[in-house]
Amino acid sequence: MLVSAKDMLNKARDGKYAVGQFNINNLEWTKAILLTAQEQNSPVILGVSEGAGKYMCGYKTVVGMVNGMIDSLGITVPVALHLDHGTFEGAKACINAGFSSIMFDGSHLPFEENFAKTTALVNTCDVLGLSLEAEVGAIGGEEDGVVGAGECADPEECKKIADLGVTMLAAGIGNIHGKYPANWPGLSFETLEAIKAKVGDMPLVLHGGTGIPDDMIKKAISLGVAKINVNTECQLVFQEATRKYIEAGKDLEGKGFDPRKLLAPGFEAIKAKVKEKMEIFGSVGKA
Ligand code: 13P
Repeated sequence: MLVSAKDMLNKARDGKYAVGQFNINNLEWTKAILLTAQEQNSPVILGVSEGAGKYMCGYKTVVGMVNGMIDSLGITVPVALHLDHGTFEGAKACINAGFSSIMFDGSHLPFEENFAKTTALVNTCDVLGLSLEAEVGAIGGEEDGVVGAGECADPEECKKIADLGVTMLAAGIGNIHGKYPANWPGLSFETLEAIKAKVGDMPLVLHGGTGIPDDMIKKAISLGVAKINVNTECQLVFQEATRKYIEAGKDLEGKGFDPRKLLAPGFEAIKAKVKEKMEIFGSVGKA
């Protein structure tokens, strides 16, 4: 059964570790992440962007697939199914489809609008027992080949949104999605400390987990980060393993063209990556 992310994140905050949000794209991704969480006895959050939701034939298909897998694979660790960077419309659609956790990302909207829309969702999610993530201070990333520096959120705005009663808060601290450029100055721990001082107990979310050095991850956790999102890194190891398989000519040997064989190295690579991240985040054995 899917659960809200609230208990797992409050426990992570108190225990000074972080729960990983791993984004899913298809059946192989989902199965790899769920099996690894079970093997590592770790809570886990499956992230679904609106684009990935569309790709997987809609949110209802995703809910059906994930619930079916939890049942047929015998997954007993806590699993939250979470909309990643949702619009207001997307949030409503995922609530209706049976997601257990929602991110409403109003960070690119005027603050008043972000505040008003987050307020409406706080009440809805509260009644339905779903967790809600809000965002302040847009997280940068690559757009048209230009990598924008990560923005830093205003701690006062973070407090206003946290005080609405969201479950967890994503705040820009210089992090960006995708690969980090060579001249990236690193996370702004000053900003993180200032936000933490304002929002108190609120579990904080670190987006753009791909490529952040382990020591920075550990420091961020010590300063209040309880959820870390990883997407690109799983895509990169999947791509690398699949490329190796084909370049070695394995798809041409015997039944190597069978998708169950062709996609197996990528599947195993995602499992290894998720295990590595869970170890760094400290969530192993915490289910
Ligand atoms: P990366 O793709 O950089 O790991 O970021 C994932 C993320 O933050 C999803 O919201």
